[in-house]
Amino acid sequence: MGFKVAVVGATGNVGREILTTLAERDFPADEVAALASSRSVGREVSFGEDDILTIQNLETFDFHGIDIVLSSPGAKVSAQFAPRAAKAGAVVIDNTSCFRMDPDVPLVVPEVNPKAIADYQKRGIIANPNCSTIQMVVALKPLHDLARIKRVVVATYQSVSGAGRAAMDELFNQTRAIFVNDPVKSEQFTKQIAFNVIPHIDIFMDDGDTKEEWKMAAETRKILDPDIAVSATCVRVPVFIGHGETVNVEFERALSADMARTALRRAPGVSVVDHRADEGYVTPTEAAGEDLVYVSRIRRDPTVPYGLNLWVVADNLRKGAALNAVQIAEMLVAEHLGGKRAPTRSNVEPLRRKAG
Ligand SMILES: NC(=O)c1ccc[n+]([C@@H]2O[C@H](COP(=O)([O-])OP(=O)(O)OC[C@H]3O[C@@H](n4cnc5c(N)ncnc54)[C@H](OP(=O)(O)O)[C@@H]3O)[C@@H](O)[C@H]2O)c1
Repeated sequence: MGFKVAVVGATGNVGREILTTLAERDFPADEVAALASSRSVGREVSFGEDDILTIQNLETFDFHGIDIVLSSPGAKVSAQFAPRAAKAGAVVIDNTSCFRMDPDVPLVVPEVNPKAIADYQKRGIIANPNCSTIQMVVALKPLHDLARIKRVVVATYQSVSGAGRAAMDELFNQTRAIFVNDPVKSEQFTKQIAFNVIPHIDIFMDDGDTKEEWKMAAETRKILDPDIAVSATCVRVPVFIGHGETVNVEFERALSADMARTALRRAPGVSVVDHRADEGYVTPTEAAGEDLVYVSRIRRDPTVPYGLNLWVVADNLRKGAALNAVQIAEMLVAEHLGGKRAPTRSNVEPLRRKAG
């Protein structure tokens, strides 16, 4: 018998990627419930190559008997449903910003702080970090272990898929409209995103940072080290999938570019592609659909005593969201829920084969 899993937000960008990732990695689930809003009830979503699931209503779903919930319905919805699911006995792995800074909720990147998963017992909830934070801390962890990071200055180049399905549609529709000379409508972004870049992700805070910039600093400190200073500028770019980041790192001790390259080559979840020549680096389009965090352009920053510059790229829907959540679920199962099996339940669909 496998585990009973619910995916909340299963019609969205992250939810669909979670279903794909569970199937691809052969997650030990024998029942999977796909949940979304009442708007989507009855719609069908794919689960792997061969199976389909019918969307059920999150609002009325009974979580008793569910072992693990992987969720991405937006922060306000998670605030409502996650405590209800945890009370019913499920462990919720939540992709939204809702619980990330809750001191009783672990914020986990398996390559960086896997032991924190054990704290799931406090509230029955584990938080998945922001997509931009995840790829950065995967690259920073092996360097921090070697030479202690003091300060990070990062600029992001974030794809529109990070803002959901409707944002991807907006980039497509604006691009088309510009080519055929139709009026350009901006609803998901504050300004035109096609053929443009927008230095504004999430809301503005009192100090002038955006909340996305604040998240990168606060989450990095919670996951990696509370003493690391992070200054971020987050920018939306007209790319469908894949975030790029320029990361300037200042260390306490000397760390050469060669030593950093060697450490990153050995680090889990990282691929170094750094040839200092045409095509010798990875771009977001090439990282789309891939699981690894790619690090290129590793070079010394001569303006500080011990500094390096990096270019870090990953698929924001996979390592930045779905894959990281499924990796957490895999560790949870292997290390904490090993012996547990839920009683038989009736409100979860058994897997149904696709026709043909
Ligand atoms: N995209 C990324 O790179 C990324 C990375 C990390 C974290 N996240 C976070 O994950 C969340 C979802 O992102 P996304 O890109 O998947 O957005 P999305 O494509 O807009 O999908 C949103 C999902 O949430 C569901 N939903 C909305 N309101 C709901 C409600 N009242 N009850 C139940 N389900 C509801 C939607 O269902 P309907 O189809 O029924 O409306 C849909 O399945 C956000 O909080 C985002 O910040 C995203």
